[in-house]
Amino acid sequence: MRCSALIYVTCEKPHDGLARASVDVRRGADVILHFPCPARMLCDAMPSIALQPVGQEAAPILANLFEFYCHDLSAHFALRIGADGRFGYPHLSLYWEQPESRFAFFIMADNELAGFALATRGSSATRDRSDFDVAEFFVLRMHRRLGIGAVAAAQLWDRLPGHWVVRAAIKNEAAVVFWRRAVSNYARDEHIERTLTVNGVTRQVFEFESHTV
Ligand SMILES: CC(C)(COP(=O)(O)OP(=O)(O)OC[C@H]1O[C@@H](n2cnc3c(N)ncnc32)[C@H](O)[C@@H]1OP(=O)(O)O)[C@@H](O)C(=O)NCCC(=O)NCCS
Repeated sequence: MRCSALIYVTCEKPHDGLARASVDVRRGADVILHFPCPARMLCDAMPSIALQPVGQEAAPILANLFEFYCHDLSAHFALRIGADGRFGYPHLSLYWEQPESRFAFFIMADNELAGFALATRGSSATRDRSDFDVAEFFVLRMHRRLGIGAVAAAQLWDRLPGHWVVRAAIKNEAAVVFWRRAVSNYARDEHIERTLTVNGVTRQVFEFESHTV
């Protein structure tokens, strides 16, 4: 006997990355299937995401966000706060002093600050000084698991076409999972993945070519 069914796919709000398909079978029984949402980027629950270059006048805002980032990373690294109660980051000013090799962006979601992406030309994981490297990357907790990080990363790579290197300490397991997924979606599996240990810290390293859209 042949059966046919009409499947309705819905994406619930707030967006949680799952699509739900309801199959109405005979005698009124309902079978609910769950699978990764294929239309995630088109979902109307998805905020509009944009990278906004950070000008020097916005340095204090970036420094504020950097504190939250350091606090998150202190779960994996032995970061220390100063007597002023701040982690601090002495190299932030380089992003304005070396504009040819350092790039700083706020991640905006529906025109609100959602995080930041910092990139450099030259990576500690490769020898070619023209390679791009994701130096620091952060999405505020309230904006996480909405796809914002993945979209922002893709926008960063599109914006600076070339050979990209992404590194994540393997003890930051969530970051490794996030980057593996973001890179393989972006580079369509045409990427290299390896581990690299420097000064006792083992990192997962991803390399791929970015392209302009
Ligand atoms: C890592 C980080 C940038 C992810 O940002 P995000 O906007 O939440 O990521 P996305 O929503 O785009 O996630 C895309 C996919 O990555 C994976 N992922 C993201 N965060 C994850 C987590 N905490 N645990 C497991 N997988 C995760 C999932 O596969 C996710 O898809 P799903 O939500 O459909 O399951 C964010 O958690 C963060 O800022 N962390 C602290 C700073 C940090 O570790 N930065 C990276 C340094 S290398």
